[in-house]
Amino acid sequence: MIKVVFVCLGNICRSPLAEAIFKNKVLGRGIHDSFEAHSCGTANYHVGDSPDPRTIRNAKKNGVLIEHVGRQLCEEDIAYFDYIFVMDKSNYSNVLRLENAKQNEHKVHMLRTFDTIKGDEVPDPYYGQEKDFQEVFEILDRSVEGAIHFLLQRP
Ligand code: 4NP
Repeated sequence: MIKVVFVCLGNICRSPLAEAIFKNKVLGRGIHDSFEAHSCGTANYHVGDSPDPRTIRNAKKNGVLIEHVGRQLCEEDIAYFDYIFVMDKSNYSNVLRLENAKQNEHKVHMLRTFDTIKGDEVPDPYYGQEKDFQEVFEILDRSVEGAIHFLLQRP
């Protein structure tokens, strides 16, 4: 069982969508039993909240159902998960601030590294428009696909 967590700032836009896309893809391939996937925010602003309604609506338009309750990444998560996929550099440095993160830095990956179209961050759509949510969907769809290939190649 490979345990992965997707991490953004608020855990209401990007990371719950990445989690939902990941689950859809592994289910579609019949390899879902090999993975456990979650998502978290580095901030506590939206703990207990549903994903942003704009994210839910956009995902639905793209055929992806999102069900998630917001939660904040904690020290235990760093030890528990095998792979921590972050959306941007700010998430990366926030993750590394957790107590035991430095010795687990090898677990932390910028998700956009796995995109086939160059770019280093998954942009935050929170203050954006519908087109920004769609752009994030497309970036995550490609990046998560790439991340699955990467995970399947691991020993
Ligand atoms: P996310 O987007 O990190 O993709 O979930 C955000 C959600 C909420 C806030 C910022 C970013 N916020 O400031 O409340």
